[in-house]
Amino acid sequence: MSTHPAVVTVTPGGPLQIQHIPTPPIASNQVKLINQYTASTPLDLHQADAHLLVNPPQILGDSVAGTVLEVGPDVKRLRPGDQVFGFVWRFQAEKAHQLYVVTEEKLLAKLPPGRSLQEVVVVPDNFVTAWHALSKDLGFDLPWPKPEGYVSPGKDSWIVVWGGSSSVGMYAIQILRYYGYGNVVTTASKAHHERLVRYGASVCLDYRDEGTVERIRDRLKSGPSQRDFVLDCIGSLEGSVRPLARVATTKGAKVAILLPVIIKDAAPGIRPEYEMDVQACAAWAQGVEVSGVRTHTYMTDEFLAERLQPEMMPWAIAEKTVEPNDQIIVEGGTLLERAERALQLLREKKVSGGRLVWRVAEEEEVKTAMEQFCS
Ligand SMILES: NC(=O)c1ccc[n+]([C@@H]2O[C@H](COP(=O)([O-])OP(=O)(O)OC[C@H]3O[C@@H](n4cnc5c(N)ncnc54)[C@H](OP(=O)(O)O)[C@@H]3O)[C@@H](O)[C@H]2O)c1
Repeated sequence: MSTHPAVVTVTPGGPLQIQHIPTPPIASNQVKLINQYTASTPLDLHQADAHLLVNPPQILGDSVAGTVLEVGPDVKRLRPGDQVFGFVWRFQAEKAHQLYVVTEEKLLAKLPPGRSLQEVVVVPDNFVTAWHALSKDLGFDLPWPKPEGYVSPGKDSWIVVWGGSSSVGMYAIQILRYYGYGNVVTTASKAHHERLVRYGASVCLDYRDEGTVERIRDRLKSGPSQRDFVLDCIGSLEGSVRPLARVATTKGAKVAILLPVIIKDAAPGIRPEYEMDVQACAAWAQGVEVSGVRTHTYMTDEFLAERLQPEMMPWAIAEKTVEPNDQIIVEGGTLLERAERALQLLREKKVSGGRLVWRVAEEEEVKTAMEQFCS
């Protein structure tokens, strides 16, 4: 069996390694692609530095963008040569920080016209996260396609998106705008406020300013909110969860927190700590409903499993319902260097209002693979 390089974590906080792993044959419903671009995300850092939900040696990464090389006989939509992108995480052959990825077509979208693989690789994981968290965890009605003349049932509710400049936050605010949820209050560094207003936020506050919690609480009380909703896009014990327990105080308020809750942040030389029990993380007011967001369960919803990635995601980009996050390009002479540099940027908290993107396959590797499989 032929092999290909993959970036793996072997020990918590230890250096990443390249391992040459067997390239599996595809099953009848699977697709093999050559992976040209990937993104590095906070989950990669949680996994590399704390081995959160890791069975080592484990391949990292969950965002791919590349070219289809082979499809099984039951694959209906994709063909060799198609350029695709998607959020993939379920098993090793599917993970994103490797040269060849084997997955199913329902986790992949075709590249929208006029876009590049490098631009769209920043979308999949957190477009899926934002959509799933808003619909499942907060219970918002997000009918797709949106019916003509649709009126948002939540137009009178206040929605707090804590961490609006995070990748999840930027997609969440834009999806809320599309569905007419007009009362969005968000927190981010001031440098991002203008963009977040353009995306649909009505109030932007700096989370570092004193009095931010009180200002949000006053805003929620100013009515006419039928019910308060909170999406915590950060999940930091002291940086978002505990402040939000002081924001969401009215009975019936719904709070969705992106897991894991970060108890101690990863930093150079520091091993991070996490907690999965959101209820235990703060003194929540009585009657406030709190849940932890787990995007990895989105495929239990049959509609989202079939449509969210292959249809809704490229539609949202093509129709400009969401603007892809800014790319922060990570350079490096080798796959390993780029993967390590990206992790280091995450450890040093250098990501602000953007997504780390790096090349996986070299041009020459893409050309050779295309000649072999697509001619
Ligand atoms: N459970 C799940 O299903 C799931 C899915 C996706 C993501 N997540 C988790 O969600 C978190 C965010 O992911 P991401 O990819 O969106 O992150 P990201 O884009 O890398 O987050 C960076 C942003 O976080 C903001 N930020 C940092 N601390 C903050 C605070 N205390 N309050 C408000 N904003 C703060 C920064 O804002 P400024 O630059 O404006 O200062 C920066 O723009 C990660 O922990 C990730 O693992 C969980």
